[in-house]
Amino acid sequence: MTEKVSVQSPMLSFVPSEMPDPAPYHLLTSVVAPRPIAWVSTISAAGVPNLAPYSFYNAVAGFPPTIMFSVAYRRREPREKDTLRNIREVGEFVSHIVDAAGANAMMQTAIEWESNVNEFDKAELETVPAIDVRPLRIAAAPVAMECKVTQIVPVEGATNVMVLGRVLRFHIREDLYRSDLGLVDTVRMQPITRLGGSVEYTRIGELFHLEMPAH
Ligand SMILES: Cc1cc2nc3c(=O)[nH]c(=O)nc-3n(C[C@H](O)[C@H](O)[C@H](O)COP(=O)(O)O)c2cc1C
Repeated sequence: MTEKVSVQSPMLSFVPSEMPDPAPYHLLTSVVAPRPIAWVSTISAAGVPNLAPYSFYNAVAGFPPTIMFSVAYRRREPREKDTLRNIREVGEFVSHIVDAAGANAMMQTAIEWESNVNEFDKAELETVPAIDVRPLRIAAAPVAMECKVTQIVPVEGATNVMVLGRVLRFHIREDLYRSDLGLVDTVRMQPITRLGGSVEYTRIGELFHLEMPAH
């Protein structure tokens, strides 16, 4: 792990504005990897449930716990995705962890269905009501976070819009909770995470500890 990389190693250099679309996207997502996946449940003002995965996703603050995900335009139509429209209408979402058991269902929900399609039905996912927000929760997901939208931030120069949400409630499957530490057993949970391109994913491998050096 401490092996030194020779400064003589040949390097390639790329300028995104000189690359054909979608090459910069593929390069970026193979570099910033593995990326966690938020499986995001929303609901329209009219009450149509929606579910879709987002891997431009991370935690951005610990107290209060705040997460973000970033939504681009649809691939074939120049319009906002249903998730974002629902977020604007209702201001709430439930973000789930995807484990291997949920992977195929997750892919079903990534299809750009018509707005009136309920992806929970398409993916044959059982739901339970959330407690503090209106969007539904996936019953089988190992972790779910009920969130209230706090900010909607357009990404300059992109069709992406960053959605930030405060976690109002965590749902953690009991066997995954390490009560002595107040942590989830992430290795046991085995979230699937995304690599570059369109089809590459990975799961958690080796766990090791690093201590903060004394200073
Ligand atoms: C693993 C995975 C991660 C994805 N991440 C994103 C993302 O971060 N941002 C995005 O706009 N679309 C992402 N997508 C595509 C959306 O899930 C897809 O466009 C979906 O149909 C949107 O649904 P909606 O229109 O119901 O919101 C991802 C797809 C997959 C399979």
